[in-house]
Amino acid sequence: MIPALDARGVHFAYEPGRPVLTGADLALYAGRRLAVLGPNGGGKTTLFRLLAGALAPDAGEVRLDGETVRRTRRGLTHLRQQVQLVLQDPDDQLFAASVHQDVSFGPVNLGLPAEEVTARVDGALAALGVVDLGDRPTHLLSFGQKKRVAIAGAVAMRPRLLVLDEPTAGLDPAGVEELLAVLHSLHATGTTPVVSTHDVDLAHRWADDVAVVASGRVVTGPAGDFLGDAALLRSARLGPAWAPAVHRLLDAAGFTGARPRTAAELHELFGPPAVTSPGPVLHEAVTASAHAWRTAKETHRGP
Ligand SMILES: Nc1ncnc2c1ncn2[C@@H]1O[C@H](COP(=O)(O)OP(=O)(O)OP(=O)(O)O)[C@@H](O)[C@H]1O
Ligand SMILES: [Mg+2]
Repeated sequence: MIPALDARGVHFAYEPGRPVLTGADLALYAGRRLAVLGPNGGGKTTLFRLLAGALAPDAGEVRLDGETVRRTRRGLTHLRQQVQLVLQDPDDQLFAASVHQDVSFGPVNLGLPAEEVTARVDGALAALGVVDLGDRPTHLLSFGQKKRVAIAGAVAMRPRLLVLDEPTAGLDPAGVEELLAVLHSLHATGTTPVVSTHDVDLAHRWADDVAVVASGRVVTGPAGDFLGDAALLRSARLGPAWAPAVHRLLDAAGFTGARPRTAAELHELFGPPAVTSPGPVLHEAVTASAHAWRTAKETHRGP
């Protein structure tokens, strides 16, 4: 199967003698959700910028549908119609005065008819839950609002591949769930989403495949296997996901039901807690530990 987009043997350095990628391979397959993990400074953002044509490899190649991307105006325009990159920092992405202008910039630039532009912009603003912000100046938005608007701008382009650099960083928990719902519906309607993150639990519940970018190279594999591999994850300054361990515990206990992928699903699995409010239990625990601490202090002081 030919990847929709792939990097092959890519070398890249911003400065001579300080290579960031030294023979990186990464394949994005249509319909496969990919999570990209790796330490700070490992090269995730650099790799994404190479895939989206914003940077040119020093060696190796980036291919779209198996064809080397030409770094001509035509070649890059073609790539950008298929692949949208949402930058890690929304301040690097947003530039128009108002939210509406920013999200409509891409579709207008594609030369689409006015009704099509309106439909795409309205749809993207609604999908990201930012319809109310349409008239707001972009520079007055909160960080999380800016992130959503930046994603709306990419969604309005209806790309085949949507590459999101740390889209959940800085979002509140409900915002993360909403973003996953957006990615779910985009995926269901034919967009292939790629996400970088430091959140192994999010990667475990969401991704089909995982790529770890570290030491200039990329290692890719199925999410389920990779995210239970503590040694591999440690090499990328990550801890293992909790879900594989919980699944193993449930297996060992002979539990045959569903396997929870989120804390909320785990809570649901065991039904409502016996004590509906943690208040009395917490109060008792805090009082007991305060008493133990006082006793220990008094004993230490002696008579
Ligand atoms: N514009 C630049 N000029 C010079 N060096 C750069 C530039 N951008 C990034 N780098 C360097 O390239 C390396 C890879 O950075 P990159 O931003 O790709 O990492 P990352 O995996 O995305 O990290 P993070 O998890 O912090 O986002 C780092 O050592 C960084 O200092
Ligand atoms: Mg980055």
